[in-house]
Amino acid sequence: MAATGSNQNTELKAMASVSTPDLGVDPQVCLAAEPSDPCTIVILGATGDLTARKLIPALFDLYKEDGLPQPFQIVGCGRTELSSQSFRNNMEKALTDADMFDPQQWPAFSSALHYQPIVYDDLQSYQNLAGLLKTLDSEINTGGNRIFYVALPPMLYKPVAEMIGRAGLSAENQNGNGWARIVIEKPFGTNLQTAQDLDQSIHRHFKEHQIYRIDHYLAKETVQNLLMFRFANSLFEPIWNRLYVDYVTITAIETLGVEHRAGYYEQSGILRDMFQNHMMQLLALTAMEPPSRFEADVVRDETVKVFRALRPFSVENLDKFLALGQYAAGTINGKPVPAYRAEPGVKADSLTPTFAMMKVFLDNWRWQGVPFYLTSGKRLAKKTTEIAIQFKTVPHSMFRRTLDEGIIANRLTMSIYPDEKIILTFQTKNPGAAMCLRTVTMDFEYNQNYTGPILDAYEKVLIDCMLGDQMLFWRQDGIEKSWSFLTPVLNECEACSDRAGLLHFYEAGTNGPAESRALIKKSSV
Ligand code: BG6
Repeated sequence: MAATGSNQNTELKAMASVSTPDLGVDPQVCLAAEPSDPCTIVILGATGDLTARKLIPALFDLYKEDGLPQPFQIVGCGRTELSSQSFRNNMEKALTDADMFDPQQWPAFSSALHYQPIVYDDLQSYQNLAGLLKTLDSEINTGGNRIFYVALPPMLYKPVAEMIGRAGLSAENQNGNGWARIVIEKPFGTNLQTAQDLDQSIHRHFKEHQIYRIDHYLAKETVQNLLMFRFANSLFEPIWNRLYVDYVTITAIETLGVEHRAGYYEQSGILRDMFQNHMMQLLALTAMEPPSRFEADVVRDETVKVFRALRPFSVENLDKFLALGQYAAGTINGKPVPAYRAEPGVKADSLTPTFAMMKVFLDNWRWQGVPFYLTSGKRLAKKTTEIAIQFKTVPHSMFRRTLDEGIIANRLTMSIYPDEKIILTFQTKNPGAAMCLRTVTMDFEYNQNYTGPILDAYEKVLIDCMLGDQMLFWRQDGIEKSWSFLTPVLNECEACSDRAGLLHFYEAGTNGPAESRALIKKSSV
């Protein structure tokens, strides 16, 4: 019978107390970060897709939530000749298209938007930009603090960093400058050598504390929550090791294909696109030792230690550790989709992998002998991002005579997508007279009992950059260690005589090549 009136309220209260018992502890409000210094955000590549789809929506959202410093200014730079008013109109349209426009808040926000045409390799352009920034500093009091967000193709990272430096805009606390920070996104090079080369160029004008290398996976709330979950609970850490853990799976698979990015993807493939960065960060957060303090460099030191512990692949036995695949034609969500090789811009005989499963080991005390299975791929059956800790089975089963089946081991799943959840599976007795076990779950939904604003990944990245907090950004030594591990593998995959033999085709909309399942069985410890 449906509950009514006050009955209904009582029932609702009862249900609420079932899901979250009142422990007498006030929920902590921790959204309000300290305000950052006034600053100007310079977006290089302001007429591009990233600016319209991600950066301006993120900045506008932050503005609406009082998350931007006061005062702030945004200067868009691009090759196209535009007036500031046309730039504002374009951004208004982008927000309207994204259903994020707010006519009340827009006038004040848009008055902080400016546009400055730029030729990316021309020093005079940057000197003109410096002039505009100085004028804004003196008129609006932005304190000479600047973020240079490079929303441009990677080939422009070097020239742009060089010109910002030569125009005197990277020097901090002199000639009217306050702090200066540069933000770049992956790819950070294509192998160890090009990553080092890129870094040297950027370091010519920027110091490490000024460089913010984004990995959008690190800005995902539930990825950050891994650290809290592991190190703010005493329950899990003592069993988070080879004595109790059988294996770990880290999965980031998707249904999307290469879309319009064939030019980039043909050069990169799944190993550079997902493994060198996102998968390695998920591995590091899952496997790292407890940092002694929650500070950027202390946490990033521990990340680097994980990469140092990665056991190098034996390239002669690559198929024991790595399965590569490429999607063939198939069906996604009931619709036929073409093979990777038939996508616009992809070579008809392309050997670029769109799927990889990797079995890695960490040579350290905690994880010796525990395999970590890292899987990522495009055009698979579903989009899922998760980390699962598979615990060992019980050492002895006293139910052996009563129960036919073996006892299923516990599993802890940190789900990042589609649900933001933590799920622990365990065994209980099945109700009834018969003696049998059933696997049940204890679930926690990340947003349970939370009604405050939720930051999107770009909002988080922008806030941290304004605050000067580098915790969620890559440090160069981490990038180099990650490339040191992957570069020999890439060399072998790309230069070996049987390159085609390494690649297994899978039908789009399935779970990837069967060879990846075989990897799980092959012993290699
Ligand atoms: C990007 C890759 O970094 O991450 C894309 O370049 C991939 O190829 C994307 O689709 C996946 O991100 P997410 O957040 O959707 O899991």
